[in-house]
Amino acid sequence: MSVSDLPKVELHLHFEGAAPPEFIRQLAFEKKIDLSRIFAPDGSYAFENFVHFLQVYEAATSVLQTPEDFARLTRAVLEESATNGVVYTETFLSPDFCGGGEVAAWREYLHAIRETADRAEADLGIVMRGIVTPVRHFGPQQARRTALCAAETAGDWIVGLGMGGDEGKGKQGDFAYAFDMAREAGLRLTTHAGEFGGPDSVRDAIRDLRVERIGHGVRAIEDPALVEELAARKITLEVCPGSNVVLGLYPDMPSHPIARLRDAGVPVTVSTDDPPFFHTTMRREYDMLAAAFGWEEDDFLALNQTALAAAFCDEDTRARVKTKLEKT
Ligand code: ADE
Ligand code: ZN
Repeated sequence: MSVSDLPKVELHLHFEGAAPPEFIRQLAFEKKIDLSRIFAPDGSYAFENFVHFLQVYEAATSVLQTPEDFARLTRAVLEESATNGVVYTETFLSPDFCGGGEVAAWREYLHAIRETADRAEADLGIVMRGIVTPVRHFGPQQARRTALCAAETAGDWIVGLGMGGDEGKGKQGDFAYAFDMAREAGLRLTTHAGEFGGPDSVRDAIRDLRVERIGHGVRAIEDPALVEELAARKITLEVCPGSNVVLGLYPDMPSHPIARLRDAGVPVTVSTDDPPFFHTTMRREYDMLAAAFGWEEDDFLALNQTALAAAFCDEDTRARVKTKLEKT
């Protein structure tokens, strides 16, 4: 058996970013929207750098216009994840792209997504939970609206708030109000930090947003005292190695800091971020890590236990997923 055959827990997956290009092309065709500019000649998504990636991402997302579109996306994404052996996926969902940040509309989109996810759990065995995502470059005011959507739907399925978007825009602390609202509603918290921002962005996230996980966080490696703090406080990193290499943070997988962070005692997990954009899958991430660092089955089993412990789901769900991980 290869390590990529193991059952997997994924904690960091952008829902729209998981849409296969052919899925987006089909919706564009049905809705008569010209999206040819975002595709390369081979049909994959085409972008030059991180900010351009975010623009292409939002252009692709523009064809997702109704709850029914999101129901179809849910099925496509969960089929692909299940094919990759993922048994539990925490996915970033944006009310901004599901009704423009308005609570009543968001509820309708969420209903369609959940219903499809429940069916997929029954027939594919994959468990999905949602993390509501403010988009950082839409600004703090819009983030409050998004956080209100999150607070109004918080429960056993919407389990967290996690900010994505352009880390170059504003400061983590500008979004403290949105994160406070979510915390008061009982949601667990994460934010992208230390991806395109440096170690200070990770420090700001911990201090100003009081998050318990960090999306990426890999640039903490540039600050040994911060690495020690992450290890001591057991702050889990949602590391997306393939994404980081494609977006140019590191030239290749052996240069990626995930192994050094892990060896320093930081809880690290592995996810795909936006798999078709970065030509990756969970299987491929495992294979690339095994090749780059010589990681073996035990390393990946431990990685999944770390991810399961850091998952934002309730304890019943965690116990159910644990049994799925044990069925190797
Ligand atoms: N949104 C989708 N993918 C992202 C990433 N890698 N960083 C920040 N925001 C994102
Ligand atoms: Zn991300």
